[in-house]
Amino acid sequence: MNEVRPYLLPHTTFEGQIASRAGAVITLRDTSQWSRFVTLLNRCNGRSTLEEIAAEARIDVPSLSGLMNDLEQGGFVWTLSDYSNIPTPVFQREFKRWLPVWVNQMYDQPFWRDLYDGMSGPQTLIGWAIENMHYTRTVMAHMPYAVAHAESSEYEAIQLRHLSEEWDHYRMFMDGCIATGQSPDALSRTRPLVTSTAVTHFMRSIAREGAIVYNACEALLEATTEDDTSVIDFYETAGKRYGLPVEFTSALVRHVNVDKDFEHIDIFDSMLSSIPSLPSGTVNRIFDACQRLAELFVLWNTEIHEFYSGSRKRSIAAASSVQDSSLVH
Ligand SMILES: [Fe+2]
Repeated sequence: MNEVRPYLLPHTTFEGQIASRAGAVITLRDTSQWSRFVTLLNRCNGRSTLEEIAAEARIDVPSLSGLMNDLEQGGFVWTLSDYSNIPTPVFQREFKRWLPVWVNQMYDQPFWRDLYDGMSGPQTLIGWAIENMHYTRTVMAHMPYAVAHAESSEYEAIQLRHLSEEWDHYRMFMDGCIATGQSPDALSRTRPLVTSTAVTHFMRSIAREGAIVYNACEALLEATTEDDTSVIDFYETAGKRYGLPVEFTSALVRHVNVDKDFEHIDIFDSMLSSIPSLPSGTVNRIFDACQRLAELFVLWNTEIHEFYSGSRKRSIAAASSVQDSSLVH
């Protein structure tokens, strides 16, 4: 039996005769059909067959089939016969729809625009580099767990290589901060903000879920290298506007280029290329983890901005030191 059982994907919203999800919208030419259309979509529960839905909705099967194909192209439904395993290309199409949504959520706080426009202060950009130094320095607190929890020896090797390429990246952020006049000792004595440590702890907990879920999150963290020209323009323009040393900006740019040259952004896709499908539980865990990571980034960037611009004191529950957190098992 290979019957199509349409499934309306989560996070579809209906508002004012517009259905939207992951950056795509649907409207109807014949607005009088709207409530019928919504009822029809809500019948797509992944259990009823296309024929059953057509009979209930009093619509002919070829028309419904055509509609489902269009909705699938638009990213609103899946039309599989079984949802216990999701074919990898179906998952990847959906994942790539959400990636820019999450990246946008992570970096769309107004203070980034102010920073770029010169309306903020240099301390926010330097503070951002300090917190990224702290976070990247804790790679040994989470990535080895992803190696240990890798699903296969092939994934273990991929993860080990990533670790070998990533372990010293904190130096680039540190070099940038040193160029602004801070001593290496003073930088080493600074304590990460609570949210910087929270990102480390989050990645550590995700590493225990296996290399696939972990690398979905890594794909989100590396996604900015896809648009490296905008990121480099941001560093260079903001750096000039605040009169920061060229060495500060070039250290940040170097990190973008190094990450890009290592092609870390492609790791998740290359892992997926060897598997035909993913269990639906894994798919759920991936989307849940990436959504939570995007939300955590909003908190992280907000705390960086508020703390380094002086509008908020360090949180009372100050972060434990990097060294302390790496000892917790
Ligand atoms: Fe890196």
